[in-house]
Amino acid sequence: MATGDEIVLAVINERRALRGALLPVLHGIQDRLGYIPSEAVATIARELNLSRAEVHGVITFYHHFREEPAGRTVIQICRAEACQANGADALVEHARAHLGCALHETTGDGAITLEPVFCLGQCAVGPALMLGERLYGRVTPARFDELVGRLGEPLA
Ligand code: FES
Repeated sequence: MATGDEIVLAVINERRALRGALLPVLHGIQDRLGYIPSEAVATIARELNLSRAEVHGVITFYHHFREEPAGRTVIQICRAEACQANGADALVEHARAHLGCALHETTGDGAITLEPVFCLGQCAVGPALMLGERLYGRVTPARFDELVGRLGEPLA
């Protein structure tokens, strides 16, 4: 099995010729590893002829990129306009209180990472969230608790 370093180099080599290769490289690494390891920053900078500060700046600018491995399940709550108009902020507050972790954080047991996202294409049925690979609309706080409570149960 390839190590993290080998995967990082493989992704760089696949994408280095692309215009503005840094973003495609970062997306590729996160898709393959689930996050951008801090050790990868120097490798990316060297291979793409950028400074470490430039690479780090892009990673921290785009909230999509994680600097730590995610929890076993990622919950992304939409914070874009249509969902905000339907109570997304209240849902985020509820999720933070229920899980005991803030946005961009993972619960202490490593079970859930909570993230914001900007539009899931479910604008008519907000507030929307993505739990793992599944989309949910009209998520009330009670529905949120139900969904989280069912994590780990076999899918029906
Ligand atoms: S605004 Fe939330 S899904 Fe589009």
